[in-house]
Amino acid sequence: MRFINLGTKEEACHYVANELLKQMISDHQSVLGLATGGTMKDVYARLVELIQMNQLDLSEIKTFNLDEYIGIDSDHPESYNTYMHQVLFDHFSSWNEEHIHLPNGSVEQLDVEAERYEALIDEQGPIDVQILGIGENGHIGFNEPGTSFNSLTSVVNLTESTIEANSRYFDDVNEVPKQAISMGIKSILKAKRIILLAYGPKKKEAVQQLLSGEITTQLPASVLYNHPSVEVILDADAYPNQ
Ligand code: GLP
Repeated sequence: MRFINLGTKEEACHYVANELLKQMISDHQSVLGLATGGTMKDVYARLVELIQMNQLDLSEIKTFNLDEYIGIDSDHPESYNTYMHQVLFDHFSSWNEEHIHLPNGSVEQLDVEAERYEALIDEQGPIDVQILGIGENGHIGFNEPGTSFNSLTSVVNLTESTIEANSRYFDDVNEVPKQAISMGIKSILKAKRIILLAYGPKKKEAVQQLLSGEITTQLPASVLYNHPSVEVILDADAYPNQ
């Protein structure tokens, strides 16, 4: 695992956007693993500019998102489906909607949906580049502390701290969903290459713990030490004093 401090949030976001662009240019049938959260907004804003500048044909690119809330419809303003369409998919007509995948948190049989999603990743994958944010408690996707490193896509319960952290996107903390469908830790590790992005002082503690090198289910991101190709891209505020 390589930790790279790029100084500013802007540099860090541009790096991640550049890597996604390079992947898509090198293989127009790339499979991208996408993430949501505030952290990724500037990555997608830059990626939109880069795709435009390079006039990329996106019709054969496949995307898999990490997670989706349960309990809100997919067209809810705070669903990850809405987020992804606003920041990336709706900007280009060349995306093929059939190649865009997010778990569906509004179906009746959530366990069946989770199994379907995992099988689809196996069928169409492996994911070439998986981007990840990190929760303040070290979660990746919505895999909260304590999650088994063998977990596959499943229904997960969000911790109080994640609900609190994500309440900034909702009018009221009571509106924040308490469950999600998330790719599991084992699902995430199937990707060929992983780029974790973290910036700002709120992420420093999780990054500090990650840097300690201890691999523990209490810090889900620490499982990334078991993967051969992981970069942790940081700004100066998230980079721990050593
Ligand atoms: C969210 C998402 C994660 C994200 C993390 C950090 O709950 N499920 O994929 O990486 O928490 O979010 P943010 O970037 O808004 O800090």
